[in-house]
Amino acid sequence: MTYKFPENFWWGSAASGPQTEGAADVDGRKPSIWDHWYDIEPGRFFNDVGPTNTSNFYYQYKEDIALMKQTGHNSFRTSIQWSRLIPDGIGEVNPKAVDFYNRVIDEMLANNVEPFMNLYHFDMPMSMQENGGFESREVVDAYATFAKTCFELFGDRVKHWFTFNEPIVPVEAGYLYDMHYPNVVDFKRATQVAYHTTLAHALAVKEFHALEIPEGQIGIILNLTPSYPRSQNPADLKAAHIADLIFNRSFLDPVTKGEFPADLVEIIREHDALPEYTEEDLAIIKNNIIDILGVNYYQPRRVKAKEYAAHPDAPFMPEHLFDNYEMPYRKMNPYRGWEIFERAIYDIAINLRDNYDNIPFFISENGMGVEGESRYRNADGMIEDTYRIDFIKSHLKWLHKAIEEGSNCHGYHLWTFMDCWSWANAYKNRYGLVEVDLDNDFKRTVKASGHWYKELSENNGFED
Ligand code: BG6
Repeated sequence: MTYKFPENFWWGSAASGPQTEGAADVDGRKPSIWDHWYDIEPGRFFNDVGPTNTSNFYYQYKEDIALMKQTGHNSFRTSIQWSRLIPDGIGEVNPKAVDFYNRVIDEMLANNVEPFMNLYHFDMPMSMQENGGFESREVVDAYATFAKTCFELFGDRVKHWFTFNEPIVPVEAGYLYDMHYPNVVDFKRATQVAYHTTLAHALAVKEFHALEIPEGQIGIILNLTPSYPRSQNPADLKAAHIADLIFNRSFLDPVTKGEFPADLVEIIREHDALPEYTEEDLAIIKNNIIDILGVNYYQPRRVKAKEYAAHPDAPFMPEHLFDNYEMPYRKMNPYRGWEIFERAIYDIAINLRDNYDNIPFFISENGMGVEGESRYRNADGMIEDTYRIDFIKSHLKWLHKAIEEGSNCHGYHLWTFMDCWSWANAYKNRYGLVEVDLDNDFKRTVKASGHWYKELSENNGFED
């Protein structure tokens, strides 16, 4: 069968500044929370590999953009590092950073790769974290100023902007589950960070729309992970509804409809965790909704009703209201420990069609991280990652079906273009279309999936 996608479909991939640029302490950049955390706790990173020299894009961007073209990219997302552009978080703009991002953007445009720019990928400048991070209302304003600075500096050439990548992740990883710095475990502080992130987003949208950038669009990138109930039993359905409210609709509703779901607010109130807010700020959220949505999808969430009550002295967690559920015989990516469930991409698209006014969206991340990929190297030195090609195809089939049924999807970006540093997992799992050899001066070699991706993009689809 032939799977053809709409005209001008975006084929490309996503990455982020902190995960690819390297050059962490040159040309005026100052530390983000990642540099600081690595300094004080290197053991929390896979093989003790930190964020200083990630993939070397800062120096090799020209070669990399040529490889993007060679692998069929018509678009590519990365992020501007706040800690590079405004090293103290507020105040002076770093001219060397402006020069670097200008060169990257111009090189992409010269190669017909459209730049999609994100403004925050988990990377709070350390100076801002010392001022309270997103618990602080002042840091919210500092972020809005950073966003406005970016639009003014680069908006003449960058038309697609995104305020945050997966804003729920710093909330859960940094303020609930002890997976990211600042390793706080506190539901109330987590809701404050989530609320202030939404407000920071809305302020950036407001600044963007005020500038009236021709053909400009602004959005946010959310990891929408459907919550599937174990069964149709009302207790399981309720558990899935709660998980959906906390992990998806907490951001999806305010950014598309301007309001938080009433039943989510009720849950937060019941657990005495309402954030501090003002009516003026709620009005900013209400009046500044997005033009386009990026959807990251990796794995489904499966949920069942709670089996046992939580310990009365344990800090409150969302999981006190539901249990995660392991479906028997689920298909797994064993390296990442994530279930592979392709149909969810269709369910997300149909949910956006039916419940979110069919908002324009694109798949902004989807991908498969695999450990030890060099064992798949062939005699010519190329990694034959057929599993990645199969993974992409099987997801695209479901996306294609959603588009045929009227969903408003404009593109597909893989995570990621070249193997990159992945936070606490460092270089454990590789996701790239292009291999990066860390033992050989960051040498780049296109994998089988990279060659296949070029055909996919040229044909605007595939046969299977
Ligand atoms: C996404 C993030 O959630 O997943 C990326 O936006 C990240 O930054 C990617 O690298 C893969 O995650 P991991 O933990 O498998 O490296």
